[in-house]
Amino acid sequence: MPLDSLRLRQDFPILARQINGKPLIYFDNAASSQKPKQVVETMLHYYYHSHANVHRGAHTLSVEATDLYEAARGKLARFINAPEAESVIFTRNTTEAMNLIAYSWGMENLKAGDEIIIDYAEHHANIVPWHFVAAKTGAVIKAIKLGRDFRLDMTDFEALLSKRTRVVSVAHMSNVLGVIHPIKSLAQKAHDAGAIMIADGAQAAPHVKVDVQDLGVDFYTLSGHKMCGPTGAGALWGKAELLRGMPPFLGGGEMIRKVAIDTSSYADIPNRFEAGTPNIAEAIALGAAADYLESIGMDAIFEHDQELTRYALERLKTLEGLELYGPEGDDRGGIIPFNIKGVHPHDVATALDQEGIAIRAGHHCAQPLMKHLGVQSTARASFYFYNSFAEVDKFVEVVAKTRDFFAQFA
Ligand code: ALA
Repeated sequence: MPLDSLRLRQDFPILARQINGKPLIYFDNAASSQKPKQVVETMLHYYYHSHANVHRGAHTLSVEATDLYEAARGKLARFINAPEAESVIFTRNTTEAMNLIAYSWGMENLKAGDEIIIDYAEHHANIVPWHFVAAKTGAVIKAIKLGRDFRLDMTDFEALLSKRTRVVSVAHMSNVLGVIHPIKSLAQKAHDAGAIMIADGAQAAPHVKVDVQDLGVDFYTLSGHKMCGPTGAGALWGKAELLRGMPPFLGGGEMIRKVAIDTSSYADIPNRFEAGTPNIAEAIALGAAADYLESIGMDAIFEHDQELTRYALERLKTLEGLELYGPEGDDRGGIIPFNIKGVHPHDVATALDQEGIAIRAGHHCAQPLMKHLGVQSTARASFYFYNSFAEVDKFVEVVAKTRDFFAQFA
């Protein structure tokens, strides 16, 4: 059933704001989504009624906080169809989750000459941690080319795969192009070559139904703040046997079994990877965000994103002087990168902001992709279930007006 974006908007007080005297049109969802009352109220309720440190105290509040925190882990496990809750590790965000894999799994398992395959569309969070690992271990990073249609060139991928390949790490959805990468097929081929498969789910998890078991990946990462949750809570899911074989990423309280002055042994998962007091309220609220999204339905969310995207692309394509990037088809989520020829994307974003429209402009933490596209930067509009067709109409109108305004100075 199609979702009712106008009704769902009522859950988001911020969407009633005026920006520069105009109704806010929030099209920067790929950077961070807005938060519904249900999530904010979960955090407030936790702080007003149930806060204590988790795992430590033998007192009622601590037990209550621990139960809420662990229940949130269970909700996230259900959200991504993880086989068990303990293989979900709370992190601050996707970036931290990717670093956790690179440091704990990568530093331990890679050696000189081993190969890590990423691709040209990756976010820096799936590039820079591998630079650290490569510098320490002598492993080599290779990147899959993109085809002319902006999709991964699977022939190039197969040519890169060899018995030296140990890791294939690709975003489930590109944060710039919106393309949904064929993770299941990548995972099968990676496994056939003897490599592990990592999917960065920062963009996909908020918009697409994720089933880590069906995808066949070894690790999956996500950020809560892009999926209606608070900042400061994200997650890493990993196959339990892999996580259990990995050394801890951070040392300290809660992640140990036994500590002496000269040695320590470590707790089982998930605690092994959650040193120190976690972001308890944020994790609990992320669980509420997963509940909230499920109550709308991930299939309905994705369908809405796709309808808005198809509609926006149809309308934008009629505008002269616009460059649009990304494929068209069912493997495209709600992200539209574009440039107005001859106008800097920051000027485009500023002009749109004057009309109340929030978009992102820049390299989107994907400099290799910008180079690949032959641009310095782009403007980027990104949708969510609370966005409407009327907002897309206004956006297209303001883009056209902005193009005409700058044309005077060309
Ligand atoms: N990764 C986020 C984006 O693409 C911040 O905007």
